[in-house]
Amino acid sequence: MSFGDEGSVDLQVKSKKRVVDHGEVFTAQREVNAMLDLVKHETERIDSRFLEPACGDGNFLVEILRRKLDVVDSRYRKSQSDWELYSVVAISSIYGVDILEDNAMECRKRLLGIYTERYSNLFKKDCKDDCIRSVEFILSRNILWGDALDFTNPITKEAIVFSEWSAVTGNMMKRRDYVFKFLVEQTHQFSMFNDEGNAATIDEPIRDFPMTHFLKLGQDD
Ligand SMILES: C[S@@+](CC[C@H](N)C(=O)[O-])C[C@H]1O[C@@H](n2cnc3c(N)ncnc32)[C@H](O)[C@@H]1O
Repeated sequence: MSFGDEGSVDLQVKSKKRVVDHGEVFTAQREVNAMLDLVKHETERIDSRFLEPACGDGNFLVEILRRKLDVVDSRYRKSQSDWELYSVVAISSIYGVDILEDNAMECRKRLLGIYTERYSNLFKKDCKDDCIRSVEFILSRNILWGDALDFTNPITKEAIVFSEWSAVTGNMMKRRDYVFKFLVEQTHQFSMFNDEGNAATIDEPIRDFPMTHFLKLGQDD
């Protein structure tokens, strides 16, 4: 048992039925930390991409976001615009899928909660709605309800599509969408995009979006 984002007690099991049907047993904070410490350097790299293909309500992803935001805070807290840009890059590097819709929704909510708490603690009334909206949009694209075994939504059977985000130049970001199944089959592992954001070895995107200011993401979607 461990403590949740708002000091509540985290339970590792929600119901016996969910354990039987979906193997849903959440990882305790101590084990999450121990496992992430094995790749500590990557968890502290702001743009290092992580995908959890059975993310539950986000125990690993939440801790990864905390670690990345610690680095953003330590480097950029004196400049609001830099903090906003690098925190959006941090959020955009975190991906998750879960077969249970409520888990995926809860995971998004927890990540957003951690983000908004940090942001408002630092910049209070100067926080921008546009920044929160960009973060919400990224989370809606990165944390998905889906079956990681057949790469589709369990009800609609539509293919899972992930967005690759790259900070290109200045305050602009580039979005390219890829079919999850293809990413996995091309690489034979759950690696997403390479560090240079170069998709040449995995496939062509199914959609390529114009560069957009990081505070305007999703506004034309
Ligand atoms: C053992 S729990 C781990 C949850 C989370 N990773 C953690 O460590 O707290 C397994 C999770 O996988 C999800 N799951 C089971 N089968 C899945 C599938 N085929 N695709 C995606 N998620 C799946 C369950 O809903 C559950 O949330």
